[in-house]
Amino acid sequence: MTSAMLEIRGLNAWYGESHVLHGVDLVVNEGETVTVLGRNGAGKTTALKSVVGLVRQRTGSITFKGKDLMGLPLHHVAREGIGFVPEDRGIYASLTVLENLMLPPQFTAGGLSIKDIFKLFPNLEERKSSQGTKLSGGEQQMLAIARILRTGARFLILDEPTEGLSPVIVQRIGEILKTLRDDGMTVLLVEQNFRFAKRLADRFYVMEDGLISETFSATELDSRMGALQTMLGV
Ligand SMILES: Nc1ncnc2c1ncn2[C@@H]1O[C@H](COP(=O)(O)OP(=O)(O)O)[C@@H](O)[C@H]1O
Ligand SMILES: [Mg+2]
Repeated sequence: MTSAMLEIRGLNAWYGESHVLHGVDLVVNEGETVTVLGRNGAGKTTALKSVVGLVRQRTGSITFKGKDLMGLPLHHVAREGIGFVPEDRGIYASLTVLENLMLPPQFTAGGLSIKDIFKLFPNLEERKSSQGTKLSGGEQQMLAIARILRTGARFLILDEPTEGLSPVIVQRIGEILKTLRDDGMTVLLVEQNFRFAKRLADRFYVMEDGLISETFSATELDSRMGALQTMLGV
C-alpha cells in the first residue's frame, strides 16, 4: 500500500489575467521520487510555487498528508515539513555558507545537524566561511539542499536542480538525492536532464500548456524516450 503524501487535484493558477495552469492532477506517494518534465513555459515552476504558496491566485485542491495547504499562509507550509529549493537557489550573497545553513529554523524533529550535513557535503565544510557570492553554481545548489535538510523537512521540492551545472556536479547531486531517497525522503523534482532524472525517479509526469498530458513509471522511460525528446524539443 502506498499513501499519497502530496495530492494536487484540478489545480488552476493565474498571474493577473494570465491563466497558466488549467487543472493539474498530480500525486506524490510517501517515499517516492517523482519527476515533472515539460517544455519551457509549460507551467512546471508555477505548479511547484502553487504548492508552497508562492503563487496565490489558485483554485483546486492541494493536500499534504491530508491537510489542506491552500488555506495555509506561506510561512506555515515549511512548518508542515516541506522544503522548497527554487530555481534561483535563494542563497544569501552577503552571508557565509555556515550562516546560510543556520538561517532557516528547525521546524520538525529529525533535521540533520551541521556535522551530519558536512559529512554529506564535505565541499561545503571546506567553504563554510566563504560568502554566498563566492560560491560556484554547484556549491550554491548543494547549499540550498543542505539548508533544507537542517529544517527536518521530509518532503523536498526541487526546481531544475542541475540547470547550468557541470556533469561532475550533476552526478554528485544525483548521489546525494539517492542517499536521501534511500533514507526515506520523498522528492518532487522538475528536471530537463533525462539522464539525471532516469537514475532517480520512480515515476514521471509530463506537463504541457498547464496540464498533465502523460504519466508513466521509470521502467517505461526508455521506450518513450524518442517521443519525449521530440515533444520536449531536446
Ligand atoms: N511572475 C510571472 N508573471 C506572469 N507570467 C508568468 C510569471 N511566471 C511565469 N509566467 C508565465 O507562466 C507560464 C508558465 O511559466 P513557468 O511556470 O515558469 O513554466 P516552466 O517552469 O514550465 O518553464 C509561462 O507562459 C510564463 O511566461
Ligand atoms: Mg521553470
